[in-house]
Amino acid sequence: MGILGIGRVGAVLARLCRAAGLEVTAASSTDDPSAACAADVVLLAIPLGRYRTLPRDLLRGRLVVDAMNYWWELDGARPDLDDPTTSTSETVAAFLDGARVVKALGHASVWELENLGRPAGDPDRRGLAIAGDDARDRAAVAALVDALGFDPVDAGPLAAGVAFEPPTEIFGSDATAAELREMLDRFPRSQRGRVVARARGEA
Ligand SMILES: NC(=O)c1ccc[n+]([C@@H]2O[C@H](COP(=O)([O-])OP(=O)(O)OC[C@H]3O[C@@H](n4cnc5c(N)ncnc54)[C@H](OP(=O)(O)O)[C@@H]3O)[C@@H](O)[C@H]2O)c1
Repeated sequence: MGILGIGRVGAVLARLCRAAGLEVTAASSTDDPSAACAADVVLLAIPLGRYRTLPRDLLRGRLVVDAMNYWWELDGARPDLDDPTTSTSETVAAFLDGARVVKALGHASVWELENLGRPAGDPDRRGLAIAGDDARDRAAVAALVDALGFDPVDAGPLAAGVAFEPPTEIFGSDATAAELREMLDRFPRSQRGRVVARARGEA
């Protein structure tokens, strides 16, 4: 596992990955990202507003997990990242030309990630949604989510990641996998879902 960004989320996910037996190489903004980008899976845990500082050439062809969200307190006002016609992970994927981007691990808080992981089969195990355009890449990230102590919920293509960005019912919801599936099903009827559908010409 390679991790770009060792702030709150990056540090917690590094600990969880190591606890799950994965070898982790992390890079901060001042480190050479080459080693982290050479890992089998590269996790993005930097402020989304800085996605254009990501090492695009090193990430080409890589399986990249986007855990980033548009958060105006951190990113400032960025209408380009709040555009309902595209999920933020699609924006990141368009910049990271050739990377295999999967959106995951971003709708839970650091506290949930650190404290609510449970073994498979535990009735209180939380669910975490996954979106990506390649089914094999989604399956690989689902295995990672499972190894970290959460039930993966396949939400479909990268565009579907808009259903678990802020502001949505799922974001910060602390839900089981079954509850998460119900929230995904009713997203199109939610306020944000209607805004997205209108912007995408689907309503
Ligand atoms: N906080 C949460 O509960 C939570 C939960 C899930 C997802 N997220 C998302 O995860 C992302 C990170 O959040 P955070 O709370 O961990 O932020 P944070 O504590 O501010 O950490 C971000 C880190 O990324 C580093 N960084 C910036 N550009 C970089 C680059 N090009 N390469 C490597 N490192 C870089 C920063 O380093 P410098 O300080 O040197 O700039 C900083 O250490 C955000 O998009 C956030 O929305 C947050």
